Amino acid sequence: MAARDLTLRMRRKVILDQVDFSARAGQVTAIVGPNGSGKTTLLRVLTGEIAGQIDPGGSVTMGGVDVTRAHPAVLARRRAVLAQQTALSFPFTVLEVVRLGAEGPGGEARALDALARVDLAHYGGRYYQELSGGEQQRVQLARVLAQLEEPVGAHGPRWLFLDEPVSALDIAHQLQVMQIAADFARAGGGVIAVMHDLNLTAMYAQKVVLLQQGRCLGAGPAEAVLTDDLLSRAYGCPLRMGVAPGTGLFLLPQSAQITHVPSALDIRS
Ligand SMILES: Nc1ncnc2c1ncn2[C@@H]1O[C@H](COP(=O)(O)OP(=O)(O)O)[C@@H](O)[C@H]1O
Ligand SMILES: [Mg+2]
Repeated sequence: MAARDLTLRMRRKVILDQVDFSARAGQVTAIVGPNGSGKTTLLRVLTGEIAGQIDPGGSVTMGGVDVTRAHPAVLARRRAVLAQQTALSFPFTVLEVVRLGAEGPGGEARALDALARVDLAHYGGRYYQELSGGEQQRVQLARVLAQLEEPVGAHGPRWLFLDEPVSALDIAHQLQVMQIAADFARAGGGVIAVMHDLNLTAMYAQKVVLLQQGRCLGAGPAEAVLTDDLLSRAYGCPLRMGVAPGTGLFLLPQSAQITHVPSALDIRS
């Protein structure tokens, strides 16, 4: 999928400023950046939700489909979206929520399978509103998974768009959800996820798009974007990535106070 020269204004304020990058199916692409940097807005453009509002000259294509003009039904077969917040005002059960995504024959089976994948196999009959925030987030992920059948369909790869999919989750469920995203990509689908946790980003994303005040500070392979310089500039505080043998890049949350973090060379030697 390719985003070219995306500029978007809201109330005359520039929210996205000439953002330009591409993402490949078969990979997890993370969108990172500080609060208010435009991550959610960018995701909503990529999914088609507000693609019509970009300035002329910009474009978003998904497998050859012009997202700014595509029919919602066409998009619904090719991509699914986990929003940052989902408010439900009716007393739906968990299974009803997941079934909202799973239409057609086999929908019920897909919904039950998706619930099992997010560790909520026995929650189908419970009321969504009575679940914890983290459980609700996993129900929403199940809904998204149930919407898409296989990671690759007749028209090519399907795409998962996830806006902070692990923000309310404990560490075990964070890893489980990121693994579901990684498996989807390994099976040939595309994943674009807005992430706050830079360690999970380093673990799971092959590609990273780094936003600051609506501009793209870096877009490319994770190792090229998750650098001390780019991250420190984007987040406005000193940040240092390290390299752990075997597990790759990591960032210590308290590293701003640490005077010496072993560099990649120290560890390797
Ligand atoms: N509907 C809107 N109207 C006006 N400004 C908006 C709207 N949505 C988002 N913004 C502004 O755009 C900026 C980026 O928001 P957002 O994309 O939600 O950031 P992020 O997800 O990176 O935290 C913020 O300054 C926010 O206030
Ligand atoms: Mg956001």
